[in-house]
Amino acid sequence: MYTAPPPLVDRYGRVHTDLRVSLTDRCNLRCTYCMPAEGLNWLPKAEVLTDDEIVRLVRIAVTRLGIRSIRLTGGEPLLRRGLPGLVARLTDLGPEVSLTTNGIGLARMAADLKSAGLHRVNVSLDTLRPERYAEITRRDRIADVFAGLAAAQAAGLAPVKINAVPVRGVNEDEILDLVEFAAEHGYLMRFIESMPLDAQGAWERDKMITADELLAVLTERWELIPVGRHGNAPAEEWRIAGTDTVVGVIASVTRPFCGGCDRVRLTADGQLRNCLFATQESDLRALLRGEADDPAIEQAWRNTIARKGPGHDINSADFVQPDRPMSAIGG
Ligand code: 5AD
Ligand code: SF4
Repeated sequence: MYTAPPPLVDRYGRVHTDLRVSLTDRCNLRCTYCMPAEGLNWLPKAEVLTDDEIVRLVRIAVTRLGIRSIRLTGGEPLLRRGLPGLVARLTDLGPEVSLTTNGIGLARMAADLKSAGLHRVNVSLDTLRPERYAEITRRDRIADVFAGLAAAQAAGLAPVKINAVPVRGVNEDEILDLVEFAAEHGYLMRFIESMPLDAQGAWERDKMITADELLAVLTERWELIPVGRHGNAPAEEWRIAGTDTVVGVIASVTRPFCGGCDRVRLTADGQLRNCLFATQESDLRALLRGEADDPAIEQAWRNTIARKGPGHDINSADFVQPDRPMSAIGG
């Protein structure tokens, strides 16, 4: 009979059931709020975990640590070779597997990912205007994203969620348009407060559109009914009165949700992080390649969670931005 493993719990009683796995630090876009035009110094291939290594860590996470959901991220996870095969191996282990992508290449892969057991996708899209998209991402690819969204929907990777980061002077005039676009197509729109996680260290607080500002824009047009949060999900949701349209807001900066955090992160090069903003990592790759057994990896994992702090201090004067940018951590 199956007995649940002891929970992966930290000093504050938070139980960790969600694992974010970055499959690559590379990306085919160059979003200005994420990385410089020339890209970054990508990880050498030898340092990136192999499929077998990822499968082994996920097996340990699921069978020994109580992880129940896996979110595949990047960089751009669709750039990983043989992704549907890896997804099939991960879903076989039992957890719910979802994917965060910029949507480029999704049109080609959505059906295979669905057959491999993928549950759903989050697609990043900050604007509906082709010229503006090309400015923000430095690539003229918005048509691929629209095609990817439609293909994901058609394949049943539902609900398809759209993530947008509203930035002052960049795309804040499209908040209502994005909500209407999502509602028209049956996608779920979510806005994310911009966080100090860019590779350039150029984040500016006053460029961030806060949850309060966003809600003010929405309530000027619609009546919003609070739906709340699903469990420990970072998004708070509102429904537009008289419709089925739901809008989510991820307010990591102004309404931090660290107290309910159930997430742990594995970078593409096999480093375990107990927080997006962690300044320390645990080298699981060294254990894997040093022939550590499963109990040793389980223990290293538990130790990493035991060291987890109460929350990020983006809002404190002592805040130190982590060395790794978002694209190398996984969102
Ligand atoms: N702040 C907030 N969100 C970000 N993303 C990338 N960089 C940042 C940042 N600095 C978003 C992307 C994508 C998700 C993985 O994270 O737009 O939707
Ligand atoms: Fe790529 Fe995402 Fe960074 Fe844009 S935000 S460059 S899509 S990793």
